[in-house]
Amino acid sequence: MTDVTDGVLHTLFHSAQGGHEQVVLCQDRASGLKAVIALHSTALGPALGGTRFYPYASEDDAVADALNLSRGMSYKNAMAGLRHGGGKAVIIGDPEQIKTEQLLLAYGRAVASLGGRYVTACDVGTYVQDMDVVARACRWTTGRSPEGGGAGDSSVLTAFGVFQGMRASAREKWGESSLRGRTVGISGVGKVGRHLVGHLLEDGADVVVTDVRADAVARITEQHPRVRAVDGTDALVRLAGLDVYAPCALGGALDDATVRDLTAGVVCGAANNQLAHPGVEKDLADRDILYAPDYVVNAGGVMQVADELDGFDFERCRAKAATIYDTTLEIFARAKIDGVPPAAAADRIAELRMAEATGSA
Ligand SMILES: NC(=O)c1ccc[n+]([C@@H]2O[C@H](COP(=O)([O-])OP(=O)(O)OC[C@H]3O[C@@H](n4cnc5c(N)ncnc54)[C@H](O)[C@@H]3O)[C@@H](O)[C@H]2O)c1
Repeated sequence: MTDVTDGVLHTLFHSAQGGHEQVVLCQDRASGLKAVIALHSTALGPALGGTRFYPYASEDDAVADALNLSRGMSYKNAMAGLRHGGGKAVIIGDPEQIKTEQLLLAYGRAVASLGGRYVTACDVGTYVQDMDVVARACRWTTGRSPEGGGAGDSSVLTAFGVFQGMRASAREKWGESSLRGRTVGISGVGKVGRHLVGHLLEDGADVVVTDVRADAVARITEQHPRVRAVDGTDALVRLAGLDVYAPCALGGALDDATVRDLTAGVVCGAANNQLAHPGVEKDLADRDILYAPDYVVNAGGVMQVADELDGFDFERCRAKAATIYDTTLEIFARAKIDGVPPAAAADRIAELRMAEATGSA
């Protein structure tokens, strides 16, 4: 028999990913629900974070992802100045195959059993319509559709926030916050990337895009004939004359090869967990590439779902997302004072806010 202390419990209590307040394993055999809800911290308020529905290779992978993602949410929410801690849930399985109303309701009951310590929302594999169903079983649900009483698609404000972070990065790097005349390369023109293209064109930037999906690229180039497309992210990061690289697809975009070959002087994009491994932030700094920390600039979406809990107001939330400009500048300033890369400076600020809230600072 496997000793559980070699696996999940060890990860929770002893590993570098540990330190979580609570991890809940949920099962509903009738619907096939298998889920992990991880609460990293409730120091700043009820844990808030989305539900990832994904066909994990193993149950251990699912737990590891829930631990990692919920920890990331603590930092993102603290940095965004929200009265929320960090949490995240994963549902194990292929949503195309097993997602049913019965399963989502069972999931809602599982979240509700935490009595408000965790507030759920959308993530990869879950959509606003799914949250409408979850909300029928659980009042601690956000990220719902406008028809379901929610704020709808969060990518509009996520893209707006990333654009603010990019303006701040331009100011730090080149002394002016406009992207006019700069060449910005976006890898991944899905929900967020597509809106980012619009902001950049309006600001006078030259935009170059790539995506693994030809239809996603075609949609952009048909709508905006000025936008150029290149074949793949490798070509984009090596493009001569690139000023800003915006990873807007999946995590791990900044690996050793990319950092070595990148022609841009600034990285600022929407993707979560861009740094492929610890130490990449230092390699970027050594090459004099300014990195705007991902969770700082992509917080517009979580600001929106948090706002929805108070009754969504688009203009109020847009004003909150606009603060990402100042926050990003503050982090660059702190990084210079402390002599550390911006990613480390951001982590320190978020950790201090959590420690102050628990009186352990
Ligand atoms: N939607 C939000 O509000 C939000 C909020 C915070 C962070 N994010 C993060 O931003 C990123 C984009 O989110 P989204 O909502 O636009 O997702 P999306 O699925 O709508 O778009 C992602 C796009 O990336 C493309 N893609 C996938 N792999 C690629 C690759 N290897 N190279 C190039 N393109 C690739 C996909 O084809 C797709 O068009 C994700 O990492 C997400 O976690 C999104």
